[in-house]
Amino acid sequence: MTVIPDWFPARLPIYDIQKSYADNAADGPFFNDAIPSRPEKVRSVDFLGFTLNSSIGIPAGPLLNSRWIALAAQLGFDLLTYKTIRSLPHPGHPLPNMIFVEPCGNGTARFTDKPLDQFDALTLTNSFGMPSQSREFLLEDIDRALSSLGKGQAMIVSIVGTPHPGIDFADDFIRAALIARDAGASLIEANFSCPNVAQSEGMLYLNPDAVYQFANAIVRAIGPIPLILKVGVFPSRDLLQKVLKSAARAGVRAICGINSVSMQVLDSRGCSALGESRPISGVCGAAIRDAALQWIREAASIIRQEKLDLTLLGCGGLMRPEHLNECLTAGATIAMSATAMMWDPYLALRTHWRNANGKY
Ligand SMILES: Cc1cc2nc3c(=O)[nH]c(=O)nc-3n(C[C@H](O)[C@H](O)[C@H](O)COP(=O)(O)O)c2cc1C
Repeated sequence: MTVIPDWFPARLPIYDIQKSYADNAADGPFFNDAIPSRPEKVRSVDFLGFTLNSSIGIPAGPLLNSRWIALAAQLGFDLLTYKTIRSLPHPGHPLPNMIFVEPCGNGTARFTDKPLDQFDALTLTNSFGMPSQSREFLLEDIDRALSSLGKGQAMIVSIVGTPHPGIDFADDFIRAALIARDAGASLIEANFSCPNVAQSEGMLYLNPDAVYQFANAIVRAIGPIPLILKVGVFPSRDLLQKVLKSAARAGVRAICGINSVSMQVLDSRGCSALGESRPISGVCGAAIRDAALQWIREAASIIRQEKLDLTLLGCGGLMRPEHLNECLTAGATIAMSATAMMWDPYLALRTHWRNANGKY
């Protein structure tokens, strides 16, 4: 049996949170270590017609471009998501993007200057504003990312619409989706839930009529490529049920949740920790695990009850192999990690070995 070495806290994360997004994209991922082997026997899983080597993947976010996708594939993550792209180049937010926080109730989180030494407690903001590259760059780079995948692996391209004056918002989702399609994507995810951007962009997933209208337009434009929707937490089971039914009716094939949870992020003086223009940020990592698992259980139960043809991808605070397995037991077909894989790039290999040894 291969023993997977520890990573945290001795080694630095593969995404350097002191550096800008552009520098991480240009110089990262920061990983120069050996890649341990994975178990020979795979537990293959069917995902929207793809046979994957495992149910373990990475949601939209930490895989900035084809070099990040190639590394994650070698590290044993079998369903990779290419970070959300837009129809036009977009700069995103300046630093800071990720700061360590401790949630303190009532929708607020407080900056903590020392990273928590407990891996299980790692919780951060992710405030990037979805930066995106030019169409020319994306066409080449998505193609390169696809060619880096091994047998039993697949890649989703995440897309989002941008409200431009004079351009229909739904049309812009389609423009971004068509870049993904033209680059060769075989799975496309529409982000209906970014908590870091303008209201109209971020809250789409909470409106069942808009979910139907936008999703159906994208489904028609990209067919036969399967469409996945990315959603966030819901205020009620009733609204989740309406949205899942709308998505299924629109021809959506899978739902990925949850996105980072919006919180007001404060510094030690009670001021906005990310600057005045960004009082609210998405919070990801350990603190949102309970909400994520509850979302998966509810979504799975509604899908069963309503007999909806929807597959679930779960993410949110899944820090360890046990958490990824708990997500699968809760009803997801795919369990994914964004924050934890940045601080422990061996997470998928750890999970494969744990499961190979019968401790599922
Ligand atoms: C660095 C980073 C960037 C992210 N960027 C995106 C994004 O572009 N699109 C998106 O749909 N979600 C994005 N997310 C949200 C993740 O996909 C995921 O939903 C969330 O972080 C919860 O998972 P986690 O607790 O494992 O990080 C990002 C997350 C992180 C950590």
